[in-house]
Amino acid sequence: MEKYTSETYGERIAGIYDTWYDFHDETAIDLLCELAGRDRVLELGIGTGRIALPLKEKGVKIHGIDASASMIAKLHSKPAGKDIPVTSGDFSKVQVEGKYGLIFVVFNTFFGLTTQESQLECLRNVAEHLTAGGAFLIEAFVPDVGRFDRGQSVRAVALGENEVRIDVSKHNPVTQTVNSQHVLLTDEGVKLYPVNIRYAWPPELDMMAQLAGLKLAERWGGWDRKPFAQDSVKHISVYKLQ
Ligand SMILES: C[S@@+](CC[C@H](N)C(=O)[O-])C[C@H]1O[C@@H](n2cnc3c(N)ncnc32)[C@H](O)[C@@H]1O
Repeated sequence: MEKYTSETYGERIAGIYDTWYDFHDETAIDLLCELAGRDRVLELGIGTGRIALPLKEKGVKIHGIDASASMIAKLHSKPAGKDIPVTSGDFSKVQVEGKYGLIFVVFNTFFGLTTQESQLECLRNVAEHLTAGGAFLIEAFVPDVGRFDRGQSVRAVALGENEVRIDVSKHNPVTQTVNSQHVLLTDEGVKLYPVNIRYAWPPELDMMAQLAGLKLAERWGGWDRKPFAQDSVKHISVYKLQ
């Protein structure tokens, strides 16, 4: 995928994103509201507003960054989303004015930065844009390389009378990258939705955060704040300035 850039995922998936990901966890909204308090909040990779819209409804002053003009357009086409300010660009560079009491990145979106350098750059920029008592929250999966068989995986995601969804992935354990296609098969033909990621285990995230001037304050195994444990498949981690 030589031509894949930070815009590619959103540009390709914007038309179908809200159909596939038509859900959110209310406990996520509650936790984010609690961390936000009355401060300004910044979401990295705001997308079509899956999380930003319910936060706005609760009175949170939300601002976003996104690289995809099509995802931003979807957000702004919604009545409640049209006045949410969004900065267009790559969130590893966090090109925004001022400081925020909460900066967050959910739904594994941090792993959309496909090199360790860009992930570290993002964390450094986050640290520069946090208020003194501010928090940076990340929701990400715990890598499971066991799902790859000789560097590849093919997974049936959905099977209906009129459509089939398959995820096809190639894994590079040296760079910790996974290049995938969400493949949609219907009577009308085949559609491809590419997604490239670089995963990191929680200790690497903590080390990068430390290099960026952040320290881990909380880590849970889910939005309901259950303890993070050996069998956790995801984590919600909160960092603060050192
Ligand atoms: C999986 S979606 C998540 C959207 C939203 N946060 C949600 O939870 O539904 C990832 C979003 O991040 C954006 N994105 C991915 N990489 C980015 C980057 N490097 N800079 C800015 N936006 C990026 C995509 O365009 C997309 O809108």
